[in-house]
Amino acid sequence: MDKVRIGIIGTGFIGNVHGRIYSREERAVVSALYDIVPERAERTARSIGGRVCSSRDELLDNCDAVLVCTPNKTHTEIASAAVAAGKHVFCEKPFSIGIDDARRLLDIANGGSGVFQVGHNRRFAPVYAKLKEFLADDKAHSAHIKMNRGELKNPVWTGDVNVTGGFLYETTIHLFDMMRFQFGEIEELIAYGSQHEYPELDEFSIIFKFKSGFHCTFASSSDASWHFPFERIEVFAHHRTIMTEEMERILDSRGMDANFETLTFHMTEKEERWGYVQEDRAFIDSILTGTPPPVSALDGFKSVELVESVYASIRSGERVRF
Ligand SMILES: NC(=O)c1ccc[n+]([C@@H]2O[C@H](COP(=O)([O-])OP(=O)(O)OC[C@H]3O[C@@H](n4cnc5c(N)ncnc54)[C@H](O)[C@@H]3O)[C@@H](O)[C@H]2O)c1
Repeated sequence: MDKVRIGIIGTGFIGNVHGRIYSREERAVVSALYDIVPERAERTARSIGGRVCSSRDELLDNCDAVLVCTPNKTHTEIASAAVAAGKHVFCEKPFSIGIDDARRLLDIANGGSGVFQVGHNRRFAPVYAKLKEFLADDKAHSAHIKMNRGELKNPVWTGDVNVTGGFLYETTIHLFDMMRFQFGEIEELIAYGSQHEYPELDEFSIIFKFKSGFHCTFASSSDASWHFPFERIEVFAHHRTIMTEEMERILDSRGMDANFETLTFHMTEKEERWGYVQEDRAFIDSILTGTPPPVSALDGFKSVELVESVYASIRSGERVRF
């Protein structure tokens, strides 16, 4: 294969992030764009090139790999059609909405001929790669995790539970995947939730126990503020506290005093600081070398399973065991 021809479905915010990255990638070319609002695809084409397609089928005829960058509720259907057309697929998070659709998409992805990668970009962010490196040399005991938003208004569909599947699917799922990446598989959880500003549960407190014996508390609100850091993992190990602050920096305090070292990434370009450049490069690597993608359909499925289990625990008031 000369260059991987990339087709982007959904040329809104994240479609343009990936589009800009692939326009600079020498092993790929942005060949086709499709959006149900044609002006959006036209605007993207003016900045990074690519053929503006008037249907999804036209797009599928003009690319090797499809990026699914549309709102959550459309992922299963669009990603399934792309697999059926024999394409490599990069599906933005969430993998799917609802356990039945997630299982269906997992089967379809596993039966496909190409690579299927899910857009859990944070795994590639330098802050979280560093945390994983630290934890490889030290045994973490427990953690406190937070993932908040200031609002569910931008883009407008983020406040519509029929489109997102729920706040946990839209935002919190990022750190659900991160927990598995850092701390392994989960054994059980119990969750509490309440509703305040939006017509859905918008505030969550969860306790997770992992198969390794590790455990953590997790707070997530869609109605707090964007106060820095809206996303943080504090990990506790033997005489050690490691704390991440969004994708900006990681603080490492070792020993019995209060001193700490800070690694900061604020000078790293945002698309790299948030891991988008690296995940896009990894997708091309997998396509060209035939190696499994670093974030698989199964990883996507498991993050959906966690979301559904948290909602189920809140509904029943019971623990969920895996
Ligand atoms: N990984 C991340 O950090 C990250 C960041 C933002 C968004 N996302 C995810 O990416 C997806 C898109 O989010 P966004 O912020 O770019 O939204 P957006 O509203 O900015 O863009 C979505 C685009 O999809 C188009 N669209 C809608 N339905 C379509 C369809 N059936 N066919 C073709 N085009 C369609 C819309 O017209 C719009 O241009 C969501 O699932 C979101 O959760 C991931």
